[in-house]
Amino acid sequence: MTTQDGFETLAIHAGQEPDPLTGAVVPPIYQVSTFKQDGVGGLRGGYEYSRSANPTRTALEECLAALEAGPAALAFASGMAAEDCLLRTVCSPGDHVLIPDDAYGGTYRLFARVLTGWGLSHGVVSMSGLPAVREQLAARPVKLIWAETPTNPLLSIADIQGLAQAAHEAGAMLVVDNTFASPYLQQPLTLGADAVVHSTTKYLGGHSDVVGGAIVFADRELAERVDYTRNATGGVPGPFDSWLTLRGIKTLAVRMDRHCRNAMRVAQMLAEHPAVAEVLYPGLPTHPGHKTAQEQMRSFGGMVSFRLLAGEEAAVRACGRTRLFTLGESLGGVESLIEHPARMTHASVAGSQLEVPADLVRLSVGIEDCDDLIDDLRQALESD
Ligand SMILES: Cc1ncc(COP(=O)(O)O)c(C=O)c1O
Repeated sequence: MTTQDGFETLAIHAGQEPDPLTGAVVPPIYQVSTFKQDGVGGLRGGYEYSRSANPTRTALEECLAALEAGPAALAFASGMAAEDCLLRTVCSPGDHVLIPDDAYGGTYRLFARVLTGWGLSHGVVSMSGLPAVREQLAARPVKLIWAETPTNPLLSIADIQGLAQAAHEAGAMLVVDNTFASPYLQQPLTLGADAVVHSTTKYLGGHSDVVGGAIVFADRELAERVDYTRNATGGVPGPFDSWLTLRGIKTLAVRMDRHCRNAMRVAQMLAEHPAVAEVLYPGLPTHPGHKTAQEQMRSFGGMVSFRLLAGEEAAVRACGRTRLFTLGESLGGVESLIEHPARMTHASVAGSQLEVPADLVRLSVGIEDCDDLIDDLRQALESD
């Protein structure tokens, strides 16, 4: 592969040269725990034991690095394992970090309920404008800014370039959770971020059949430090999960194009629907982050959230009435999903500064026929 190759080419070929032994055109699933040594310490290709490295995982990591335009990537057993490993490598007890006022509930839980006990403190700040972030950076030393854009579940947008500049001026590093956008829509490292985190469970895997996580680094030295922690703590993905994720990635670009097209149509329909109080989708010109999203993203993604005029119970009822939108957690698969964040994915933020509105419904718009999806949502909203 060359760095000039386009995204779709890299998704299919980066890290995936035909197998030198057999010519297999996709990387085999190296379902092994240990590797024969040619004499003590005589490793073949650096492989020794699959917690440390496995060839199927290497293929996935090389592909992820190419897609995020970074020099190195590490794959993990889940997005949360990736987050935890990165934070416990970069931060030390006593450090302070900034987190967004809207983020995946599990990320908040990691900071608020796990890492607090380890001695890491956090401040919560809206990252949709820079002045509030700069104010917090000026107030005390900050080790790291953790950003999501678009955020889960309110789809707010942060200016990655601006955040990177503010972070670096204050001696902090910027980590961007790029799960909602995927590298096809947005490449935070090219905008100045120091590391990108993914739940590869979502768009990268793309088929709701595997849980995984990844970090892509701007700097090889940091990747080596995090790799050391990962080997020491062990949150690695197995070979089959690595292979499934790699297979999903091959079609990321075509899937994302369709997710974006369907989501835009769904958002436009909801924006005109009398039962809907507000639609949160960065593709709508009325969204406060629309201009920034246009500048830093190729398109606006497949996630759409909306609030119901009739309140919480109506939101819960709508979630139970769809035929094609499956009621479930997670997102980013080819099939459409619907959920009630306050009672499901974001139950862990109740009572915090990240609490989500009770009348909110979140959609992961899939790649089905969009007319069918729109009919399904209409009937769910109009059954009241
Ligand atoms: C934005 C975001 N980041 C991280 C995660 C955690 O990833 P995983 O569930 O793979 O551990 C999720 C899961 O929903 C997510 O939505």
